[in-house]
Amino acid sequence: MNLSSKEKNSLKKSALKHVIPHFANNAELAKGAKIFTKGEGCYVYDIDGRKYFDSFATLLTTVCGHNRPEVTEAVKNQMELLEFFPNYVDTFTVPLIQLAEKLAELMPGELSVSFFVNSGSEANETAMKMARQYHVENGEPHRYKFIARKDSYHATTLGGGSVTGLTWFREYFEPLLPGCLFVSAARKRDCPENMSEKDYTRKLLSELEETIKFENPKTIAGMIMDPLPGSNTGYPLPPEGYLKGVRGICDKYGIVLIFDEVQTGFGKTGKWFFCEHYDVVPDIMTIGKGFTGGFIPLGATVTTPKIADVFRKGPGHEFRSGSTYGGHTTACAATIANLEIIKNEKLVENAAVTGRYLEDKLLKLQKKYKFIKEVSGIGLLWAVTLDTDKKLGIGGRIREWCWQNGMILRNNGDILVLAPSLIITEKEVDLMLGKIEGAFKFITGNIK
Ligand SMILES: Cc1ncc(COP(=O)(O)O)c(C=O)c1O
Repeated sequence: MNLSSKEKNSLKKSALKHVIPHFANNAELAKGAKIFTKGEGCYVYDIDGRKYFDSFATLLTTVCGHNRPEVTEAVKNQMELLEFFPNYVDTFTVPLIQLAEKLAELMPGELSVSFFVNSGSEANETAMKMARQYHVENGEPHRYKFIARKDSYHATTLGGGSVTGLTWFREYFEPLLPGCLFVSAARKRDCPENMSEKDYTRKLLSELEETIKFENPKTIAGMIMDPLPGSNTGYPLPPEGYLKGVRGICDKYGIVLIFDEVQTGFGKTGKWFFCEHYDVVPDIMTIGKGFTGGFIPLGATVTTPKIADVFRKGPGHEFRSGSTYGGHTTACAATIANLEIIKNEKLVENAAVTGRYLEDKLLKLQKKYKFIKEVSGIGLLWAVTLDTDKKLGIGGRIREWCWQNGMILRNNGDILVLAPSLIITEKEVDLMLGKIEGAFKFITGNIK
Protein backbone atom coordinates (compact mmCIF):
# COMPACT_ATOMS: atom_id res chain seq x y z
CA MET A 1 0.00 0.00 0.00
CA ASN A 2 1.54 3.24 -1.12
CA LEU A 3 0.56 5.67 1.60
CA SER A 4 2.44 8.77 2.63
CA SER A 5 3.46 9.29 6.29
CA LYS A 6 0.75 11.91 6.55
CA GLU A 7 -1.92 9.48 5.29
CA LYS A 8 -0.72 6.74 7.64
CA ASN A 9 -0.79 9.08 10.64
CA SER A 10 -4.24 10.27 9.70
CA LEU A 11 -5.51 6.65 9.53
CA LYS A 12 -3.96 5.90 12.92
CA LYS A 13 -5.70 8.92 14.44
CA SER A 14 -9.04 8.07 12.82
CA ALA A 15 -8.85 4.50 14.10
CA LEU A 16 -8.73 5.76 17.68
CA LYS A 17 -11.33 8.46 17.12
CA HIS A 18 -13.96 6.61 15.10
CA VAL A 19 -13.69 2.93 16.08
CA ILE A 20 -14.24 0.92 19.26
CA PRO A 21 -12.23 -2.29 18.78
CA HIS A 22 -13.69 -5.56 20.07
CA PHE A 23 -12.52 -6.22 23.63
CA ALA A 24 -10.45 -3.05 23.38
CA ASN A 25 -7.39 -2.59 25.56
CA ASN A 26 -6.87 1.09 26.36
CA ALA A 27 -3.31 0.62 27.65
CA GLU A 28 -2.33 -0.96 24.33
CA LEU A 29 -4.31 1.60 22.30
CA ALA A 30 -2.41 4.37 24.07
CA LYS A 31 0.71 3.10 22.26
CA GLY A 32 -1.10 3.69 18.94
CA ALA A 33 -3.35 1.75 16.56
CA LYS A 34 -1.78 -1.27 14.86
CA ILE A 35 -3.03 -1.36 11.28
CA PHE A 36 -2.63 -4.38 9.01
CA THR A 37 -2.61 -4.20 5.26
CA LYS A 38 -1.46 -7.53 3.81
CA GLY A 39 -1.32 -11.24 4.58
CA GLU A 40 0.61 -14.15 3.08
CA GLY A 41 0.70 -17.71 4.47
CA CYS A 42 1.46 -17.51 8.20
CA TYR A 43 2.59 -13.87 7.92
CA VAL A 44 0.94 -10.45 8.02
CA TYR A 45 2.27 -6.99 7.23
CA ASP A 46 1.41 -3.74 8.96
CA ILE A 47 0.82 -0.33 7.42
CA ASP A 48 4.50 0.53 7.83
CA GLY A 49 5.50 -2.54 5.82
CA ARG A 50 6.77 -4.55 8.81
CA LYS A 51 6.36 -8.33 8.52
CA TYR A 52 5.09 -10.48 11.42
CA PHE A 53 4.82 -14.22 11.93
CA ASP A 54 1.30 -14.74 13.33
CA SER A 55 1.50 -17.37 16.06
CA PHE A 56 -2.21 -16.90 16.84
CA ALA A 57 -3.44 -17.54 13.25
CA THR A 58 -5.38 -14.27 13.11
CA LEU A 59 -7.52 -15.00 16.16
CA LEU A 60 -7.51 -18.73 15.49
CA THR A 61 -9.12 -18.46 12.06
CA THR A 62 -6.62 -18.78 9.22
CA VAL A 63 -6.22 -22.57 9.14
CA CYS A 64 -4.86 -22.58 5.59
CA GLY A 65 -3.01 -19.28 5.83
CA HIS A 66 -3.62 -15.88 4.25
CA ASN A 67 -4.09 -15.04 0.62
CA ARG A 68 -5.11 -18.34 -0.97
CA PRO A 69 -5.74 -17.94 -4.73
CA GLU A 70 -8.15 -20.93 -4.67
CA VAL A 71 -10.40 -19.07 -2.24
CA THR A 72 -10.06 -15.75 -4.07
CA GLU A 73 -11.12 -17.51 -7.27
CA ALA A 74 -14.13 -19.16 -5.60
CA VAL A 75 -15.20 -15.84 -4.07
CA LYS A 76 -14.78 -13.96 -7.35
CA ASN A 77 -16.79 -16.56 -9.28
CA GLN A 78 -19.59 -16.53 -6.72
CA MET A 79 -19.63 -12.72 -6.56
CA GLU A 80 -20.03 -12.55 -10.33
CA LEU A 81 -22.81 -15.14 -10.36
CA LEU A 82 -24.89 -14.35 -7.25
CA GLU A 83 -23.17 -12.63 -4.35
CA PHE A 84 -26.02 -13.23 -1.92
CA PHE A 85 -29.45 -14.66 -1.54
CA PRO A 86 -30.79 -15.43 1.93
CA ASN A 87 -31.44 -18.88 3.36
CA TYR A 88 -34.90 -17.86 4.43
CA VAL A 89 -38.34 -19.50 4.69
CA ASP A 90 -37.92 -21.81 1.66
CA THR A 91 -34.92 -20.40 -0.23
CA PHE A 92 -31.43 -21.87 -0.59
CA THR A 93 -28.36 -21.32 -2.74
CA VAL A 94 -26.13 -23.91 -4.38
CA PRO A 95 -22.96 -23.27 -2.29
CA LEU A 96 -25.01 -23.39 0.91
CA ILE A 97 -26.44 -26.82 0.06
CA GLN A 98 -23.06 -28.12 -1.07
CA LEU A 99 -21.46 -26.90 2.14
CA ALA A 100 -24.17 -28.58 4.23
CA GLU A 101 -23.48 -31.84 2.33
CA LYS A 102 -19.76 -31.52 3.00
CA LEU A 103 -20.36 -30.96 6.69
CA ALA A 104 -22.59 -34.03 6.85
CA GLU A 105 -19.68 -36.04 5.39
CA LEU A 106 -17.04 -34.54 7.67
CA MET A 107 -18.82 -34.45 11.00
CA PRO A 108 -18.75 -37.40 13.37
CA GLY A 109 -21.77 -39.63 14.10
CA GLU A 110 -25.19 -38.47 13.05
CA LEU A 111 -24.33 -34.75 12.95
CA SER A 112 -25.63 -33.94 9.48
CA VAL A 113 -28.12 -31.07 9.55
CA SER A 114 -26.81 -27.50 9.58
CA PHE A 115 -28.23 -24.14 10.58
CA PHE A 116 -25.90 -21.43 9.25
CA VAL A 117 -25.05 -18.25 11.14
CA ASN A 118 -22.40 -15.52 11.03
CA SER A 119 -20.16 -16.22 14.04
CA GLY A 120 -19.27 -18.62 16.82
CA SER A 121 -21.31 -16.60 19.30
CA GLU A 122 -24.39 -16.86 17.14
CA ALA A 123 -23.78 -20.59 16.67
CA ASN A 124 -23.91 -21.09 20.44
CA GLU A 125 -26.86 -18.74 20.85
CA THR A 126 -28.66 -20.82 18.21
CA ALA A 127 -27.70 -24.11 19.85
CA MET A 128 -29.31 -22.93 23.08
CA LYS A 129 -32.50 -21.89 21.29
CA MET A 130 -32.52 -25.19 19.39
CA ALA A 131 -32.26 -27.20 22.60
CA ARG A 132 -35.04 -25.17 24.22
CA GLN A 133 -37.45 -25.46 21.30
CA TYR A 134 -36.63 -29.15 20.84
CA HIS A 135 -38.05 -29.78 24.31
CA VAL A 136 -41.04 -27.51 23.66
CA GLU A 137 -41.83 -29.53 20.54
CA ASN A 138 -41.50 -32.74 22.56
CA GLY A 139 -44.03 -31.52 25.14
CA GLU A 140 -41.46 -30.54 27.79
CA PRO A 141 -41.57 -26.69 27.78
CA HIS A 142 -40.42 -26.60 31.42
CA ARG A 143 -36.91 -27.68 30.34
CA TYR A 144 -35.31 -24.24 30.16
CA LYS A 145 -32.09 -24.49 32.18
CA PHE A 146 -28.55 -24.95 30.92
CA ILE A 147 -25.55 -26.49 32.57
CA ALA A 148 -22.23 -24.95 31.62
CA ARG A 149 -18.71 -25.09 33.04
CA LYS A 150 -16.63 -22.63 34.97
CA ASP A 151 -13.83 -20.98 32.97
CA SER A 152 -15.36 -21.70 29.56
CA TYR A 153 -15.98 -19.00 26.94
CA HIS A 154 -18.93 -19.38 24.57
CA ALA A 155 -20.14 -16.03 23.27
CA THR A 156 -20.17 -12.27 23.41
CA THR A 157 -23.99 -12.18 23.23
CA LEU A 158 -26.20 -12.08 26.31
CA GLY A 159 -27.58 -15.62 25.90
CA GLY A 160 -24.22 -17.22 25.19
CA GLY A 161 -22.69 -14.92 27.80
CA SER A 162 -25.03 -16.50 30.36
CA VAL A 163 -23.29 -19.86 29.91
CA THR A 164 -19.81 -18.34 29.76
CA GLY A 165 -18.04 -19.22 32.99
CA LEU A 166 -15.61 -16.30 33.14
CA THR A 167 -16.61 -13.43 35.45
CA TRP A 168 -14.93 -10.69 33.40
CA PHE A 169 -17.23 -11.33 30.44
CA ARG A 170 -20.39 -11.42 32.55
CA GLU A 171 -20.20 -9.00 35.44
CA TYR A 172 -21.44 -5.75 33.84
CA PHE A 173 -24.31 -7.45 32.08
CA GLU A 174 -26.06 -9.26 34.90
CA PRO A 175 -28.75 -10.34 35.46
CA LEU A 176 -28.26 -12.71 32.54
CA LEU A 177 -30.50 -15.59 31.42
CA PRO A 178 -32.14 -17.34 34.36
CA GLY A 179 -31.40 -21.01 34.92
CA CYS A 180 -27.77 -21.14 33.80
CA LEU A 181 -25.83 -23.34 36.21
CA PHE A 182 -22.11 -23.95 36.42
CA VAL A 183 -20.19 -27.07 37.31
CA SER A 184 -16.42 -27.41 37.69
CA ALA A 185 -14.10 -27.23 34.73
CA ALA A 186 -12.72 -30.73 34.16
CA ARG A 187 -8.97 -30.65 33.72
CA LYS A 188 -6.69 -33.63 33.93
CA ARG A 189 -4.02 -31.32 35.38
CA ASP A 190 -6.26 -30.44 38.39
CA CYS A 191 -6.43 -34.07 39.53
CA PRO A 192 -5.28 -34.02 43.18
CA GLU A 193 -2.00 -35.82 43.86
CA ASN A 194 -3.61 -38.30 46.24
CA MET A 195 -6.39 -39.22 43.81
CA SER A 196 -6.36 -41.47 40.75
CA GLU A 197 -7.50 -39.97 37.44
CA LYS A 198 -10.39 -42.43 37.44
CA ASP A 199 -11.58 -41.26 40.84
CA TYR A 200 -11.18 -37.64 39.78
CA THR A 201 -13.39 -38.26 36.75
CA ARG A 202 -15.91 -40.02 39.01
CA LYS A 203 -15.92 -37.00 41.36
CA LEU A 204 -16.55 -34.55 38.51
CA LEU A 205 -19.31 -36.68 37.04
CA SER A 206 -21.00 -37.09 40.38
CA GLU A 207 -20.92 -33.30 40.88
CA LEU A 208 -22.65 -32.97 37.50
CA GLU A 209 -25.26 -35.59 38.29
CA GLU A 210 -25.93 -34.15 41.75
CA THR A 211 -26.48 -30.70 40.21
CA ILE A 212 -28.95 -32.16 37.72
CA LYS A 213 -30.83 -34.09 40.40
CA PHE A 214 -30.93 -31.10 42.74
CA GLU A 215 -32.36 -28.86 40.00
CA ASN A 216 -34.80 -31.58 38.85
CA PRO A 217 -33.68 -33.21 35.59
CA LYS A 218 -36.98 -32.31 33.94
CA THR A 219 -36.01 -28.62 34.08
CA ILE A 220 -32.70 -28.99 32.21
CA ALA A 221 -32.68 -28.27 28.47
CA GLY A 222 -29.02 -28.74 27.68
CA MET A 223 -25.43 -28.96 28.72
CA ILE A 224 -23.03 -26.75 26.79
CA MET A 225 -19.31 -27.28 26.97
CA ASP A 226 -16.05 -26.83 25.11
CA PRO A 227 -14.65 -30.40 25.17
CA LEU A 228 -11.18 -28.82 25.03
CA PRO A 229 -11.32 -25.45 26.82
CA GLY A 230 -9.73 -22.63 24.86
CA SER A 231 -6.79 -20.26 24.97
CA ASN A 232 -8.12 -18.47 28.08
CA THR A 233 -7.21 -21.43 30.28
CA GLY A 234 -4.39 -22.99 28.26
CA TYR A 235 -6.03 -25.90 26.42
CA PRO A 236 -6.31 -28.30 29.39
CA LEU A 237 -7.15 -31.88 28.38
CA PRO A 238 -10.10 -33.55 30.13
CA PRO A 239 -9.43 -36.46 32.48
CA GLU A 240 -9.89 -39.91 30.95
CA GLY A 241 -13.49 -41.03 30.72
CA TYR A 242 -14.96 -37.58 31.45
CA LEU A 243 -16.48 -36.81 28.04
CA LYS A 244 -17.98 -40.32 27.75
CA GLY A 245 -19.33 -39.93 31.27
CA VAL A 246 -20.99 -36.58 30.43
CA ARG A 247 -22.52 -38.15 27.32
CA GLY A 248 -23.96 -40.98 29.45
CA ILE A 249 -25.46 -38.60 32.05
CA CYS A 250 -27.06 -36.39 29.38
CA ASP A 251 -28.59 -39.48 27.75
CA LYS A 252 -29.88 -40.73 31.09
CA TYR A 253 -31.75 -37.48 31.82
CA GLY A 254 -32.81 -36.49 28.27
CA ILE A 255 -30.48 -33.47 28.24
CA VAL A 256 -29.25 -32.11 24.88
CA LEU A 257 -25.44 -32.19 24.82
CA ILE A 258 -23.84 -29.26 22.98
CA PHE A 259 -20.13 -29.28 22.13
CA ASP A 260 -18.66 -25.89 21.27
CA GLU A 261 -15.86 -26.65 18.78
CA VAL A 262 -15.64 -23.07 17.52
CA GLN A 263 -11.98 -22.89 18.51
CA THR A 264 -11.00 -26.55 18.24
CA GLY A 265 -12.71 -27.69 15.04
CA PHE A 266 -11.27 -28.11 11.55
CA GLY A 267 -8.02 -29.84 12.24
CA LYS A 268 -6.48 -27.73 14.95
CA THR A 269 -6.11 -30.59 17.41
CA GLY A 270 -4.82 -33.08 14.81
CA LYS A 271 -8.28 -34.52 14.06
CA TRP A 272 -11.09 -32.77 12.23
CA PHE A 273 -12.88 -32.30 15.57
CA PHE A 274 -11.53 -32.58 19.10
CA CYS A 275 -14.33 -34.88 20.30
CA GLU A 276 -13.05 -37.53 17.85
CA HIS A 277 -10.00 -38.04 20.09
CA TYR A 278 -12.42 -39.43 22.70
CA ASP A 279 -14.98 -41.01 20.40
CA VAL A 280 -17.84 -39.00 21.86
CA VAL A 281 -20.46 -37.29 19.67
CA PRO A 282 -22.72 -34.49 20.95
CA ASP A 283 -26.32 -33.83 19.91
CA ILE A 284 -25.34 -30.39 18.62
CA MET A 285 -21.94 -29.10 17.59
CA THR A 286 -21.18 -25.41 17.08
CA ILE A 287 -18.48 -24.30 14.66
CA GLY A 288 -16.92 -21.01 13.50
CA LYS A 289 -13.42 -19.51 13.25
CA GLY A 290 -11.34 -22.06 11.23
CA PHE A 291 -14.51 -23.38 9.54
CA THR A 292 -14.29 -20.52 7.06
CA GLY A 293 -10.52 -20.04 7.32
CA GLY A 294 -10.88 -16.35 8.15
CA PHE A 295 -11.97 -15.44 4.62
CA ILE A 296 -15.60 -14.40 5.18
CA PRO A 297 -17.56 -14.76 8.46
CA LEU A 298 -19.63 -17.91 8.79
CA GLY A 299 -20.60 -20.23 11.63
CA ALA A 300 -22.97 -23.16 11.98
CA THR A 301 -25.00 -25.08 14.50
CA VAL A 302 -24.94 -28.68 13.34
CA THR A 303 -27.31 -31.28 14.73
CA THR A 304 -28.69 -34.77 14.22
CA PRO A 305 -31.82 -35.82 12.27
CA LYS A 306 -33.35 -36.81 15.63
CA ILE A 307 -33.35 -33.15 16.72
CA ALA A 308 -33.82 -31.56 13.28
CA ASP A 309 -36.86 -33.73 12.51
CA VAL A 310 -38.93 -32.26 15.34
CA PHE A 311 -38.77 -28.95 13.43
CA ARG A 312 -39.86 -30.64 10.20
CA LYS A 313 -43.00 -32.37 11.46
CA GLY A 314 -45.25 -29.99 9.57
CA PRO A 315 -46.60 -26.43 9.76
CA GLY A 316 -46.28 -24.82 13.20
CA HIS A 317 -43.18 -26.75 14.31
CA GLU A 318 -40.48 -24.80 12.46
CA PHE A 319 -37.37 -23.69 14.35
CA ARG A 320 -37.93 -20.05 15.31
CA SER A 321 -34.58 -18.49 14.57
CA GLY A 322 -32.93 -16.72 11.70
CA SER A 323 -30.98 -13.72 10.47
CA THR A 324 -30.57 -11.88 7.20
CA TYR A 325 -27.03 -12.93 6.38
CA GLY A 326 -26.76 -16.32 8.12
CA GLY A 327 -25.32 -18.71 5.48
CA HIS A 328 -24.19 -15.86 3.21
CA THR A 329 -23.77 -17.25 -0.31
CA THR A 330 -20.21 -15.99 -0.91
CA ALA A 331 -19.14 -17.01 2.62
CA CYS A 332 -20.34 -20.55 1.81
CA ALA A 333 -18.35 -20.55 -1.46
CA ALA A 334 -15.21 -19.36 0.37
CA THR A 335 -15.72 -21.98 3.08
CA ILE A 336 -16.06 -24.82 0.57
CA ALA A 337 -12.73 -23.69 -0.95
CA ASN A 338 -11.17 -23.56 2.53
CA LEU A 339 -12.34 -27.10 3.34
CA GLU A 340 -10.99 -28.35 0.00
CA ILE A 341 -7.56 -26.92 0.83
CA ILE A 342 -7.60 -28.52 4.30
CA LYS A 343 -8.40 -31.88 2.66
CA ASN A 344 -6.12 -31.65 -0.38
CA GLU A 345 -3.09 -30.39 1.54
CA LYS A 346 -3.67 -32.87 4.39
CA LEU A 347 -3.60 -30.05 6.92
CA VAL A 348 -5.28 -32.11 9.63
CA GLU A 349 -2.46 -34.64 9.35
CA ASN A 350 0.06 -31.78 9.35
CA ALA A 351 -1.45 -30.42 12.56
CA ALA A 352 -0.92 -33.83 14.20
CA VAL A 353 2.65 -34.33 12.92
CA THR A 354 3.94 -30.76 13.21
CA GLY A 355 2.03 -30.49 16.47
CA ARG A 356 4.09 -33.35 17.91
CA TYR A 357 7.27 -31.60 16.74
CA LEU A 358 6.10 -28.40 18.47
CA GLU A 359 5.19 -30.30 21.64
CA ASP A 360 8.60 -31.93 21.76
CA LYS A 361 10.36 -28.57 21.34
CA LEU A 362 8.16 -26.96 24.00
CA LEU A 363 8.94 -29.70 26.49
CA LYS A 364 12.64 -29.17 25.84
CA LEU A 365 12.16 -25.44 26.42
CA GLN A 366 10.41 -26.23 29.70
CA LYS A 367 13.46 -28.22 30.87
CA LYS A 368 15.68 -25.26 30.06
CA TYR A 369 13.60 -22.50 31.66
CA LYS A 370 12.52 -23.29 35.18
CA PHE A 371 9.88 -20.55 35.18
CA ILE A 372 7.77 -22.52 32.69
CA LYS A 373 5.18 -24.09 34.97
CA GLU A 374 3.26 -26.05 32.37
CA VAL A 375 3.11 -26.81 28.69
CA SER A 376 -0.38 -27.93 27.67
CA GLY A 377 -2.37 -28.57 24.53
CA ILE A 378 -2.72 -30.91 21.58
CA GLY A 379 -2.16 -30.71 17.81
CA LEU A 380 -1.42 -27.09 16.97
CA LEU A 381 -3.14 -25.56 20.01
CA TRP A 382 -0.58 -25.00 22.75
CA ALA A 383 -0.20 -22.90 25.87
CA VAL A 384 2.92 -22.16 27.90
CA THR A 385 2.04 -21.19 31.47
CA LEU A 386 4.70 -19.21 33.29
CA ASP A 387 5.32 -19.36 36.99
CA THR A 388 6.31 -15.74 37.50
CA ASP A 389 5.22 -12.95 39.84
CA LYS A 390 1.94 -11.70 38.30
CA LYS A 391 2.78 -8.12 39.35
CA LEU A 392 5.71 -8.11 36.92
CA GLY A 393 3.39 -8.68 33.95
CA ILE A 394 5.94 -10.96 32.28
CA GLY A 395 3.42 -12.40 29.78
CA GLY A 396 2.63 -8.91 28.48
CA ARG A 397 6.32 -8.03 28.28
CA ILE A 398 7.04 -11.16 26.29
CA ARG A 399 4.21 -10.32 23.91
CA GLU A 400 5.57 -6.79 23.50
CA TRP A 401 9.10 -8.06 22.83
CA CYS A 402 7.74 -10.47 20.20
CA TRP A 403 5.80 -7.65 18.54
CA GLN A 404 8.93 -5.49 18.41
CA ASN A 405 10.75 -8.47 16.90
CA GLY A 406 8.29 -9.50 14.22
CA MET A 407 5.88 -11.95 15.83
CA ILE A 408 2.26 -11.67 16.89
CA LEU A 409 1.75 -13.51 20.15
CA ARG A 410 -1.38 -13.84 22.23
CA ASN A 411 -1.04 -13.94 26.00
CA ASN A 412 -3.63 -14.23 28.71
CA GLY A 413 -1.69 -12.92 31.70
CA ASP A 414 1.14 -15.38 32.15
CA ILE A 415 -0.28 -17.92 29.70
CA LEU A 416 1.40 -17.65 26.28
CA VAL A 417 -0.64 -19.11 23.45
CA LEU A 418 0.89 -20.77 20.41
CA ALA A 419 -1.83 -21.63 17.92
CA PRO A 420 -0.50 -21.06 14.40
CA SER A 421 -2.06 -21.85 11.02
CA LEU A 422 -2.17 -25.52 10.05
CA ILE A 423 0.17 -24.87 7.12
CA ILE A 424 3.06 -24.19 9.52
CA THR A 425 6.31 -26.00 8.69
CA GLU A 426 8.93 -27.34 11.13
CA LYS A 427 11.16 -24.45 10.08
CA GLU A 428 8.45 -21.99 11.08
CA VAL A 429 7.96 -23.80 14.39
CA ASP A 430 11.68 -23.23 15.00
CA LEU A 431 11.29 -19.58 14.06
CA MET A 432 8.31 -19.19 16.42
CA LEU A 433 10.12 -20.82 19.33
CA GLY A 434 13.27 -18.86 18.52
CA LYS A 435 11.28 -15.67 19.09
CA ILE A 436 9.84 -17.00 22.36
CA GLU A 437 13.32 -17.90 23.55
CA GLY A 438 14.64 -14.51 22.43
CA ALA A 439 11.94 -12.89 24.56
CA PHE A 440 12.76 -15.15 27.55
CA LYS A 441 16.43 -14.22 27.34
CA PHE A 442 15.67 -10.52 27.04
CA ILE A 443 13.18 -10.56 29.91
CA THR A 444 15.35 -12.64 32.27
CA GLY A 445 18.24 -10.30 31.58
CA ASN A 446 16.09 -7.25 32.25
CA ILE A 447 13.79 -8.08 35.17
CA LYS A 448 14.27 -5.51 37.88
C1 LIG B 1 -14.76 -21.73 22.28
C2 LIG B 1 -15.36 -20.51 21.65
N1 LIG B 1 -16.68 -20.45 21.46
C3 LIG B 1 -17.27 -19.39 20.90
C4 LIG B 1 -16.54 -18.29 20.51
C5 LIG B 1 -17.24 -17.11 19.91
O1 LIG B 1 -16.96 -17.00 18.55
P1 LIG B 1 -17.07 -15.58 17.79
O2 LIG B 1 -16.01 -14.70 18.40
O3 LIG B 1 -16.84 -15.92 16.36
O4 LIG B 1 -18.43 -15.06 18.05
C6 LIG B 1 -15.15 -18.29 20.69
C7 LIG B 1 -14.34 -17.13 20.30
O5 LIG B 1 -13.24 -16.93 20.73
C8 LIG B 1 -14.54 -19.43 21.27
O6 LIG B 1 -13.23 -19.49 21.45
